[in-house]
Amino acid sequence: MIKLKGVRIGDLEIKVPIIQGGMGIGISLWRLAGAVAAQGGIGVISAAQPGFLKESFYKEPLKANLEALADNIRKAKEVSNGGIIGVNIMRVATNYAQYVQCCVESGADVIISGAGLPLELPELLKDTKVKFAPIVSSLRATQLMFKRWDKKFGRVSDFLVIEGPKAGGHLGFTPEEAENLTNEEYDKEVVKIVEYVNSFEEKYGHIPVFFAGGVYDRSDIDHYISLGCSGVQMATRFVGTQECDAADAYKQAYIEAKKEDVMIVKSPVGLPGRAIRNNFAKERETSRQPVEKCFGCIEHCNPATTHYCISRALMQAALGEKENSLLFCGENVWRVDKITTVKEIFDELNG
Ligand SMILES: Cc1cc2nc3c(=O)[nH]c(=O)nc-3n(C[C@H](O)[C@H](O)[C@H](O)COP(=O)(O)O)c2cc1C
Repeated sequence: MIKLKGVRIGDLEIKVPIIQGGMGIGISLWRLAGAVAAQGGIGVISAAQPGFLKESFYKEPLKANLEALADNIRKAKEVSNGGIIGVNIMRVATNYAQYVQCCVESGADVIISGAGLPLELPELLKDTKVKFAPIVSSLRATQLMFKRWDKKFGRVSDFLVIEGPKAGGHLGFTPEEAENLTNEEYDKEVVKIVEYVNSFEEKYGHIPVFFAGGVYDRSDIDHYISLGCSGVQMATRFVGTQECDAADAYKQAYIEAKKEDVMIVKSPVGLPGRAIRNNFAKERETSRQPVEKCFGCIEHCNPATTHYCISRALMQAALGEKENSLLFCGENVWRVDKITTVKEIFDELNG
């Protein structure tokens, strides 16, 4: 097997062009991110309620989260053997700027931001060495951000993640598109986005593009490289590893899931999400679950009217509750059939 070509992002050398996608809440923390970085990819910690296991979380969630995020970044760096550690911060997160600041102070190499447009990120990262990428699902969103950044800050992002319709977690598509749009159909958009990003090369140098959503084996990676991407972002496949930070029951739910067990759910974030069809997901199709305690996690969520509490649903999942919880997953979850190690996945994908 021919080795995948490494990628340079500014002064960062990515030996294997595979990003492990951030998975909240509590699915990708220091253990998974550190293991991926040690193999030469970019390991990504999720900044969604990383302090949920701390006792102080219920009284002071923001403080607990910032402490836990800093701890996770340091631990991941320690075990990464000099590897590259990133943090995924959803743009809709409340206190977004404080999470960014925490990443800068704690030594994260990279910030990846989706679920909204991180328009102010270049300003927040000014005079730091931290590299950043937005997650986009359309040419339109890419154009909007790149034009704004180019004009206002005289720069664009250091790299870019395109997330297609087969990804896990929140999706930048309508529920119909998420259900029906195939990766093959979406390839045309990928090519347009890559061409658009490349048009900035002369001014700002090469801006690597990574594709996410349904990538599982080496032929998937080769396909996106043939479309002009520099690499891929993968998440679902990494849940089936010993190093994944989720509870064993969560991993087991992935192993048991069949193709028909996956559905599109509504989320209080205001975007559809992809998840395993368990009792919780089925019940939320018809009934609201009142919020007992608000953790203040996302902007524009009203606990009095929201359909359910996204933090509670995801925390329950991370703790190993398989039925009364939201089990986010990618469309290819049915392909996860055993628990393996991060090293075995890298060996399989990169020889
Ligand atoms: C369990 C789970 C949780 C996720 N949580 C987040 C998140 O908090 N923020 C985010 O930007 N993307 C999130 N994602 C999306 C992934 O980072 C990734 O881009 C996507 O799932 C890639 O597709 P794949 O899972 O088919 O490889 C999540 C995905 C999964 C499976």
